[in-house]
Amino acid sequence: MTGENFKLKTRNLRKTYGSVVALADASIEMVEGEFLTLLGPSGSGKTTMLMAIAGLNDPDAGEIWIDGKQATYLPPFQRDIGMVFQNYALFPHMTIFENIAFPLKMRKMSEADIKANVGRVLETVQLSHVAERLPKELSGGQQQRIALARAFVYEPSIILMDEPLGALDKKLRDHLQLEIKHLHEQLGITVLYVTHDQEEAMVMSDRICLMNNARIEQLGTPDDLYFRPQTEFAADFLGESNMIECVVKTSTSKQISASGPDGAVFKALPNTQLNKGDVCKIMVRPECMSLLGARGKADNMVSATLNETIITGAVTKTYAQLANGQEITSTQLTTGPLGTTGKGSPIKFGWPADRTVALAAGGEAPA
Ligand SMILES: Nc1ncnc2c1ncn2[C@@H]1O[C@H](COP(=O)(O)OP(=O)(O)OP(=O)(O)O)[C@@H](O)[C@H]1O
Ligand SMILES: [Mg+2]
Repeated sequence: MTGENFKLKTRNLRKTYGSVVALADASIEMVEGEFLTLLGPSGSGKTTMLMAIAGLNDPDAGEIWIDGKQATYLPPFQRDIGMVFQNYALFPHMTIFENIAFPLKMRKMSEADIKANVGRVLETVQLSHVAERLPKELSGGQQQRIALARAFVYEPSIILMDEPLGALDKKLRDHLQLEIKHLHEQLGITVLYVTHDQEEAMVMSDRICLMNNARIEQLGTPDDLYFRPQTEFAADFLGESNMIECVVKTSTSKQISASGPDGAVFKALPNTQLNKGDVCKIMVRPECMSLLGARGKADNMVSATLNETIITGAVTKTYAQLANGQEITSTQLTTGPLGTTGKGSPIKFGWPADRTVALAAGGEAPA
């Protein structure tokens, strides 16, 4: 294998700590300038993967390629990789200017170039006015922006970021998400980012690598993961989902059809892993379902009993129950006051086949 055409490539990376498997079979490929996010719950192996790529832990097995060169055993400083962690890690005794200048000095850049480069990144993170302060004279959010500036200033070819916004409040986080995106776009640096916040991953990434229990669960665009999750875990992790237990009737390269409760038949995007007779779960996002009138038609439809309708603000949520007790949630933009239908009324939902996925499900066929 070679890493050609990829900025960064890992193959079957594996790392254990005693009997704990922290990372297994981790293979990713990143093209130059890509923004890829490792997303997953606590303990799923995100930091372990980042540390292996940075050269800060030794993988038990597998390979790392950077710029077409085998880098698995290179020492960290030969990898041309910058890192930003959750807790700023600025040098406390140096001014902000000196902190950002540090990596440039290490690379023996001229005084004049250092001044120009530090000035430029300070402007980008809008903190030119704090150049002469010490880190302790800055707020947490400001310190984190300086940490970002320091990672970007020497334009490493890859930047690894481990939950760099994790310690900040939501407003600042939203703001810095955009700032990181702008830095990334301006400088064209390849970024491997870590978060356990699915919204952050959706906002920032070209692609998302969803991790679960030391393994890659699914790797794809935000769109792929959100609308075409391949597993129940992926569907659940990336937002709200409705799942209906079904049995596969037909499975072709174009479409799945599956029978559900009350004789309903659903059409879904193809899934080559499923065969006729398999138990599966049909998944649809709440916002893809519409409320249908009695004569309304859609690719997929279910009849249910209304439990509750709640206006949460811009969005109205409708909670209902199928005859077999399964709950369904649908969300719609709030366009006006609630109608007069109350709890217990019959209600019908419809949604398109191309917003429906069929997921493999273990266990017995539903009655
Ligand atoms: N130095 C270590 N010694 C022993 N076990 C470790 C060590 N570092 C990580 N682990 C274990 O490896 C697994 C993966 O940890 P890792 O830090 O990669 O998770 P993570 O996805 O970054 O989680 P978080 O979102 O909490 O940061 C966990 O089960 C963790 O307990
Ligand atoms: Mg971590």
